[in-house]
Amino acid sequence: MKAYVLQEAGGIENLVLSDIDKPKLGSDEVLIETKAISINPVDVKVRPMEELLDMIVGEIRPVILGWDIAGVVAEVGANATGFEVGDKVFGMVNFPGHGKGYAEYVAAPAGHLAKMPDNTTFEEAAATTLAALTALQVLRPRVKAGDRILIHAGSGGVGHYAIQIAKQLGATVITTSSAKNRDFVLSLGADQHIDYREQKFEEVLADIDFVLDGMGGSVLENSLKVVRDGGTIVSLPTHQFSEELKAAADPRNIKLEFVLVTSNGDDMNTLKEYLESGVVKAHVSMTFPFAQMAKAHKQLESGRTVGKAVVRL
Ligand SMILES: NC(=O)c1ccc[n+]([C@@H]2O[C@H](COP(=O)([O-])OP(=O)(O)OC[C@H]3O[C@@H](n4cnc5c(N)ncnc54)[C@H](OP(=O)(O)O)[C@@H]3O)[C@@H](O)[C@H]2O)c1
Repeated sequence: MKAYVLQEAGGIENLVLSDIDKPKLGSDEVLIETKAISINPVDVKVRPMEELLDMIVGEIRPVILGWDIAGVVAEVGANATGFEVGDKVFGMVNFPGHGKGYAEYVAAPAGHLAKMPDNTTFEEAAATTLAALTALQVLRPRVKAGDRILIHAGSGGVGHYAIQIAKQLGATVITTSSAKNRDFVLSLGADQHIDYREQKFEEVLADIDFVLDGMGGSVLENSLKVVRDGGTIVSLPTHQFSEELKAAADPRNIKLEFVLVTSNGDDMNTLKEYLESGVVKAHVSMTFPFAQMAKAHKQLESGRTVGKAVVRL
C-alpha cells in the first residue's frame, strides 16, 4: 500500500510517499481502507521537531503521521466489536500516539471509532475528528447554559466546531477572526464577532465566564483581562503558563488549563449524533488529492485555514 513515511523530523520534503506493507491487525482493531484524512496544526508542528514527535507519537521512527481518518472497514480483528466489513467509519486514531493515518490502510482500535452518519461525506466525516473532539472534550465539562464565552479563532478547525457545540450547550458565544470570516462564524451561530485586526477584544469585553484560546501568546495574556473572577481559560497551543500569568490568575481564582484531546469512541458517537441531527456541520473549505500532501501541509502552516482542510484518497 502507499503511505507517507517520515524517516526523521524535517521539512515537507521529508514526507515521502512510499510502498509499504499493509498494517498487521491487532485483535481489538479494525482495518480501514482510507477514503479521507483531515490535516491538523499538530501534524505540521510535530513534523519538523524530533522532541515534539517524541512527545506526541513516541520515540518511534520512521513515523507515519496523521490521526484523522474516514473510510471503509476492510477487516475486523477477533476481539473488535461493533463493526463489520463494509461499514463506513470515522475517528481520531491513537492520539496521542502513533496514528499512522497518512496511508491507504489504517489499523485502528475499534474503541476509537464510530460509524459514519448517512448524511455525511467521507471528507466531512474525516474533518469531524481531532478538531471536533477537542471542542467537545474542552467545552462539555466546563460550559453551561447561560455562560458568556469567548472562542478565539472561531473560523479555524477547532473554533468552527466549538461555536456550534457551545450553542448546543446554551452558551452565548463571542468569537474572534478576521473580517473576511465574519459571516462564516455568525452563520455557525456565534452571537458576536470581533475582528481582531480592527478591535482589541480586551478593550471591548468583560465578565466572560470561559475562554477557549487557540492562539496562545498575547491572546492568552489578554484573555485574563476579560475573564471574570473564578472563570476559566483553556489554552490549546501551550501547556506552559508563565509565572506572571499564574500570578495574575491565582488571586482572582481564574483556572488556567491545558487540555490535550484524546481518542475516544464514545465521544466519536456523540459527534456522529451531532452530525446526524444537524447540531454540528463540518466545513471543509479545501480538499487535496493524496499525491498533494505537501500542499495540504503548506495550507495548515499558513494559519489561515477556514474550517478544515482534507486529503482525499
Ligand atoms: N491541545 C490540543 O489537544 C489541541 C487540539 C487541537 C488544536 N490544538 C491547537 O489549537 C490551535 C488551533 O487549532 P485549529 O485546528 O483550530 O487551527 P487552524 O484551523 O489552523 O486555525 C486557523 C484559523 O485561525 C484564525 N486566526 C489566525 N490568527 C488569529 C488571531 N490572532 N485571532 C483569532 N483568529 C485567528 C484564522 O482566521 P483568520 O484567517 O480570519 O485570521 C483561521 O481561520 C493550534 O495551535 C493547534 O495546534 C490543540
